[in-house]
Amino acid sequence: MTNKTRVAVLVSGFGSNLQAFIDGAQNSSLPIDIVGVISNVEGAFSLDRARNAGIPNQCIPHGQFPDREIFDQALLTQLDKWQPELVVLAGFMRILSSDFVDRFKNRLINIHPSLLPNYTGLNTHQRVIDAGEQWHGSSVHFVIPELDAGPVIVQGKLQVHNDDTAETLQQRIHIIEHQIYPLAIQWFAEDRLNVTKKGDVLLNNLKNTDQLITFNI
Ligand code: GRF
Repeated sequence: MTNKTRVAVLVSGFGSNLQAFIDGAQNSSLPIDIVGVISNVEGAFSLDRARNAGIPNQCIPHGQFPDREIFDQALLTQLDKWQPELVVLAGFMRILSSDFVDRFKNRLINIHPSLLPNYTGLNTHQRVIDAGEQWHGSSVHFVIPELDAGPVIVQGKLQVHNDDTAETLQQRIHIIEHQIYPLAIQWFAEDRLNVTKKGDVLLNNLKNTDQLITFNI
């Protein structure tokens, strides 16, 4: 049997991206072993998804810790037990300390629902509509201490419709995310991602254009 990449997933909520990884691992389209899931929110549906798939899972509620560094230390203690090669943030609604981020340099990835570097932060769908943008999308990127920054691995984009609301955009963005996030994880697992000194992500054996995918949805 070939070695599968050990992946830990950090979540806070619904976990539809987590489900895409679980499905990929189960049907062998993703060469990964999900070694554990951590939620900072008690009762998050993501934890049910992990439990149903027989994946070790842990709730570490951030409110029970005096500060960010001590909470992050608790995350690290749990992750050390699972020894992940890649840590995936999937709707994890906490800012991580630079100590945590440095510990997983080029092994920590996030998905942000915008075409980065545009629209960092929250409420991206509504802000995109309010600004009258023609295009919107989602970006998978390596995490650096600066929020919603870091080398972009892959982006998916779609055209904003005249009658779109934040909700309809969110639904279509999720469809994109369930494709591009597993793809980024697959590329990592296949050791195809090279981060240059300039901070670009180059793909072995692929043209750069493959890192920006247009979806007609
Ligand atoms: C995604 O839209 C992602 O871009 C953002 O949080 C959302 C998580 O959704 N960071 P889910 O919990 O995976 O369904």
